Amino acid sequence: MADDRRRILVADDDASIRAMLQDFLEDENFDVSVALDGEQVLASIDTSKPDLVLMDVRMPRLDGIGVLNEMKRKGHDVPMIIMTAFNSSNIAIKAIQLGAYDYITKPFDLDKVSEMLERFFERHALSGELQDLRRRPEPIDPSDRIIGNSAAMQQVYKTIGLVAGSDATVLITGETGTGKELVAQTLHTNSTFSHGPLVKVNCAALPETLLESELFGHEKGSFTSAINQRKGRFELADKGSIFLDEIGEMTLGTQKKLLRVLQEREFERVGGSTTVKVDTRVIAATNKVLEDEVAEGRFREDLFYRLSVIRVHLPPLRERKHDIPELVDYFLAKHRYRPDGPPASISQEAIRLLMQHDWPGNVRELENTIERGVILAQGGVVTTHHLVFNTVRSGRTLDLGELLQRCHSLGDAMQEVEARLLFETLAQANGDRAQAAQMLNITVPELDARLEHAQSFGKPDVVR
Ligand SMILES: Nc1ncnc2c1ncn2[C@@H]1O[C@H](COP(=O)(O)OP(=O)(O)OP(=O)(O)O)[C@@H](O)[C@H]1O
Ligand SMILES: [Mg+2]
Repeated sequence: MADDRRRILVADDDASIRAMLQDFLEDENFDVSVALDGEQVLASIDTSKPDLVLMDVRMPRLDGIGVLNEMKRKGHDVPMIIMTAFNSSNIAIKAIQLGAYDYITKPFDLDKVSEMLERFFERHALSGELQDLRRRPEPIDPSDRIIGNSAAMQQVYKTIGLVAGSDATVLITGETGTGKELVAQTLHTNSTFSHGPLVKVNCAALPETLLESELFGHEKGSFTSAINQRKGRFELADKGSIFLDEIGEMTLGTQKKLLRVLQEREFERVGGSTTVKVDTRVIAATNKVLEDEVAEGRFREDLFYRLSVIRVHLPPLRERKHDIPELVDYFLAKHRYRPDGPPASISQEAIRLLMQHDWPGNVRELENTIERGVILAQGGVVTTHHLVFNTVRSGRTLDLGELLQRCHSLGDAMQEVEARLLFETLAQANGDRAQAAQMLNITVPELDARLEHAQSFGKPDVVR
């Protein structure tokens, strides 16, 4: 009897995950085969001809990326869904670039797997779209690492992987500090334009005429201070990418010129008549809601549509608080007290406080808070004492009643007050000890001595 069930190959070196997936998928009426490492995957693809491979990235002998590379080299194209450890945006981007259909992060719940498979087979049955999805350029390792594992961030990694091979214009939106520039950078490094430069222009920084000459260049004598011919950023970005930051601030006149560049890939320098042609990927970013700007007549509708062929939206940090612990670890590793020293650790209580905060300044504010915390903790354990928020200081004001309950003597309470004062002052001085000492009218050695005492006093809660 012919078996017309869908065939899935499950590859994982972890026997318990293999068994779990096998049971689950067989219950869902799939025909399941298994592989223990990458070499077995390659062998099984030839023998058991699966419709889909569900593959762990980390496997002995040949890992998931190795398998994808090998498949590509051989011109095989069996759709792959990759399973990655949580916090591996680089691998996810790379896998999508190498032609993986999708990825899922561990630990996963089986409902998610089921949904993903349903979506996959629906799509697979419908069209040859998968073929297109799987034609990708060679991958390049992104140097800047984007952190975050929330659904929204996963979507961002997928989009970056998917647009890597095209020259489509990308519009990145999101509040201040959500990582727009970081995404632009990663998009560039992962794209076919990565061999060329990434040229950045802040559209808010210059008045209209200067911005135009900055973007498009100018001919000698085109305006009073134009002594020589000058190439604009678009010309400099030829064969690379141009990042138009704060595009929402661009005037209507400049918008019109930009529209032409996007449509025709050509322009004239200011005061000139020679047409210059460029081959450039345009990435734009804004923290404004461009739809509103269009409605108010401040932004051209046609330009808006041209720009937003591909949209990447970065949600505010308060809507993806689950990313906070991972971001914190990353920033602790990034901002060391001593360059060659170990990263500082942080208390559970401090993490809890960070999770409660609303982060109007988003990831940038979190990064600054951690950087300052490390300085205040002098490379030791960052506790709630060391967290100073720029904005609302809720949860950090000195509550005398609570202080009385916790401290058993006037001496203890006074020490705590002193510790807070010292940290607060140091924070206001941005970690500059000389300035902090001056603010408190004490000497630097005295400040150091008191800080040392405050450190031992501000005893860390449970250490992560
Ligand atoms: N997901 C992330 N992972 C790691 N670092 C991040 C992430 N998002 C933002 N950052 C860091 O936060 C800081 C601010 O990010 P970035 O400059 O990209 O924000 P932005 O959206 O361009 O902000 P603005 O609108 O104010 O220009 C940078 O130091 C960046 O590296
Ligand atoms: Mg920015």
